Amino acid sequence: MKKFNVGIIGATGAVGQEMIKILSERDFPIEELRLLASARSEGKVLNTPFGDITVHETKEDSFEGLDIVLGAAENDTAKKFAPAITAAGAVFVDNSSAFRLEENVPLVVPEINPEDAYKHQGIIANPNCSTIITLVAINAINKLSKIESLTASTYQATSGAGAGGPKEMFEQSKLILEGRKNEIEAKVFQHQIAFNLIPQIGGFDEVGYSSEEMKLQNEGRKIMHLPDLKVSCTCVRVPVERSHAISAVVVTEDYLDLDDVRKAIAEAPGAKLYDDRDNKVYPMPSVTSDQDIVFVGRIRRDLVHENGINLWCCGDQVRKGAATNAIQIAELLIK
Ligand code: A2P
Repeated sequence: MKKFNVGIIGATGAVGQEMIKILSERDFPIEELRLLASARSEGKVLNTPFGDITVHETKEDSFEGLDIVLGAAENDTAKKFAPAITAAGAVFVDNSSAFRLEENVPLVVPEINPEDAYKHQGIIANPNCSTIITLVAINAINKLSKIESLTASTYQATSGAGAGGPKEMFEQSKLILEGRKNEIEAKVFQHQIAFNLIPQIGGFDEVGYSSEEMKLQNEGRKIMHLPDLKVSCTCVRVPVERSHAISAVVVTEDYLDLDDVRKAIAEAPGAKLYDDRDNKVYPMPSVTSDQDIVFVGRIRRDLVHENGINLWCCGDQVRKGAATNAIQIAELLIK
C-alpha cells in the first residue's frame, strides 16, 4: 500500500495533538510525519505513536516532499503558509476559518458532502466545530425533507479555544474554591469562565451576531448545498472541558413524522440516536467526549413551528469537530 508524507502545522496545540493520535488510531498510511509549530516549539521532541519526532518552526520551505498538510493553527498562520504548501505540491486540509467560504475551496464534512473534496485546487477547509456537530445531527432530517431554517443555541466547551482554555477554567475554579476569586484574571476568555457562562465567541458584527454564530449559517449553506437556509444562532462558552452541545429547532418544508426522524438519525453516518427520556438518556459532554460520534437526543415536536423538530446534540469538538473530520478528509484524498 502506498504511504504518504504528512505534515501538521500546530502539532503542539490541542487539535494538532489529537491529529497525531487519530492518524495512528485510524492506521493512516504514513511514510513521514512532519511536526510543525511556532518558533517557540523549535527543537521540542514529541513522543508519538510514530516514534519520537522533533518539532520544527513552520517556514516557507517546511513543506517540500509532503503530500498532505493538516492545518491546526490560527487563520493568520494558515493564510501565511497556504501559498508555500500548494507550491510544494501538497494538499492543505486546513482547520482554520481562513478559506472556508472561498469559492474554489471545498468545505467538507465527509458524512455529508464527500464529493466536494475532489473539486479542490490545493486547499480543502475543515468546517467550524459546532457546525460539523450540528450538521451531522440534522443531515438525515434534510434528506427526509429540505430544511428551511434552523434556530440554535450552542454550549461550547473550553477546549474549543485551544489548550489554554481548559487550563484557564481549572486555574480559576481552584482560585474560587480557595476563596481567592479576586485574583482571577481572564486571559483566554473575555470574562471569568469558571462557574460562569459567556455569550460571546468571536467578535460581533454590526447587527449583534458573533462571528461564531454566523458560521453555522454561512458554512451550513455551503456544506449542505442549501443556499437559502436561514439560521439564527446564539453561541455560548460554558465551563465544560470537552464536547460541544447544541440545542436546535429544525424547520422543514414538509411535516415529518417523529418516528421517521428518529429512524433516519439512527441510520445516519456519524450520528447516534441517544434518546430515551424514561431512562434519563440524552447526550451530555460526559458521555460523548473522546469519541467521533455525534449523539442526538431530546427529539420532540417544536411547539412554535408546525413543521419544526426540536433536538439536542452533543459531540467531541476536538475530535469530530476538528481533528477527526480533517483526517477523514485526508482519507478521501488517498482513496
Ligand atoms: P506553539 O505551541 O509553538 O505555540 P492551541 O490552539 O492549542 O492554542 O494551539 C495552537 C497551535 O498553533 C500550536 O501548535 C502553536 O504552536 C501553533 N502556532 C501558533 N502560532 C504559530 C505560527 N506563527 N506558526 C506555526 N504554528 C503556530
